[in-house]
Formats: sequence, structure tokens, C-alpha cells
Amino acid sequence: MLLGVNIDHIAVLREARKVADPDPLDALSICKRAGADQITIHLREDRRHMQDMDAKHIIALSSLPVNLECAISAEMIDIACDFRPHRVTLVPEKREEVTTEGGLAVIGEQPKLKEAIQRLQNEEIEVSLFIDPSLEAVKASVDLGVEWIEFHTGKYANIYAMLYTNLPKTHHSIKALDFPRKVLQQMLKDELSNLRLLATEAKKLNLRVAAGHGLNMQNVKEIANIKSIEELNIGQSIIARSVYTGLEQAIVDMKELLRG
Ligand code: PXP
Repeated sequence: MLLGVNIDHIAVLREARKVADPDPLDALSICKRAGADQITIHLREDRRHMQDMDAKHIIALSSLPVNLECAISAEMIDIACDFRPHRVTLVPEKREEVTTEGGLAVIGEQPKLKEAIQRLQNEEIEVSLFIDPSLEAVKASVDLGVEWIEFHTGKYANIYAMLYTNLPKTHHSIKALDFPRKVLQQMLKDELSNLRLLATEAKKLNLRVAAGHGLNMQNVKEIANIKSIEELNIGQSIIARSVYTGLEQAIVDMKELLRG
């Protein structure tokens, strides 16, 4: 299982004080040494963490492939075509959200997506679509001719958190999931089998399959065991752990879990 380490949260810390440190660029050699397979960054339209210069330098200097997440706006596609990362993952973006809350509305956005995908592929950039795990979204992704899809695992992670962690019921990530334990256990099972089924289906349709969002040391195992998923992109939980363990150890520990 490949691991893309999302290093946005290093920039979150820097932007909290608008100073120079910590610089996400310094994470590149550590990620490489720790066994990461890819660097993932999200250049948000509001530039709340990564800045254009971060993206430019990371893409230019990383010896690992860089996966640039961005919205489908003309501005972002221009930047991506200019910086030329290994891969672009197109994600939905809302200004008011804390993080990417769901997958792309692939069905309603085909013309816009088609144009963006074509521009990126003309620059020989691999394209991935961040989608909710639904058959319609998988089929629409095939029709759009992308190389990759990435399943949003937020729902799985939220159900898992409700069942197995002590987060208060008012926590933003679990507010919609106040169900009895038995119901949550069934929901978790259903979500996992849905992801398994769709990953298999997507692979049969020649898509490469990644997954991510809300994955951590507790909940990652079940997702990592899904054979048709090739890669996980993990950010928040790795950077959060690195405060205590150091970044290198946090990546080594996650990579170890993914090896099974
Ligand atoms: N994959 C995509 C497409 C994302 O947008 C994000 C969040 O930026 C992640 C993976 C990583 O999510 P998390 O930070 O919850 O691990």
C-alpha cells in the first residue's frame, strides 16, 4: 500500500503566526527517509495554508512524486499547468469548510471537469478525482478518462470515531451520526463493504484507486486491507502525531501499519 503524506498542516502551523517556520519544504527529505511514497499538498483558493511559492518549490524540489490537490477553477488549473506536479487531484472546495467535506459532484460538473482534465493531461499530468464512494461517481470518472480516483473516506472515519473514540457528541466531525451502537456497527460494515466493492469495480474499469480523509493509526487497518486500493493519502493524523513523535517516526509508524 502506497502512502501519500499530506503536509498541509505544517503550513497551517506556520500560517497561525504568519512567520517563516515551520517550512513544509523541510519535510520533503524527512518524508523520503521515512518511506513515504508521495507528497500530497492542497493549494486552497483562500491560501489558508499552502502558498503558491510553497507549491512551486515543493513540486520543483521533491524527489518523491507530488500530488497537488486543487479546485476546478481556471486559476488553479493555470497554476497546476505551470508548476507541473506528477498528479493533480481535483477536489471540491467551499470557503467556509474546515476541510474537504465531501467528494466532487462529478455528475453535475462534467463539462467543467472535462475541460480541466484535458488541459492537465495535455501537460502530461496524471489526473485523479476525489469522489464519494458511489457507483455513479466511479462510472462518471471512467467516462471522463482520468487515470485515478480517490475515495473520500470521511464517512467511514466519522462512523469509526463515533464507535471507538471518546470524542464528545458535539464534535464537528460526528454531529450527524448520533445513532445507537448496533446501528453504527452495521453502518461501519456497510461503508467498508461499499468501499471494497467499488474499489474492485473501479479497478476492473482500469482506474487506479486511492483513498483518504480522516484516516489515522486506529482506523486505517480496515481500509489498508482493501486489495484494490493502491494508495492512501493521510495528513492530519500524521502531522498531529509528529508533534510528539517527530515527523519521521510518525510516517514510519503509519507505513508499518500499511504493510500489515
Ligand atoms: N485526500 C484528499 C483529496 C484531501 O483533500 C485530504 C485533506 O486535505 C486528504 C486526503 C487527507 O485528509 P486528512 O488530513 O484527514 O488525513
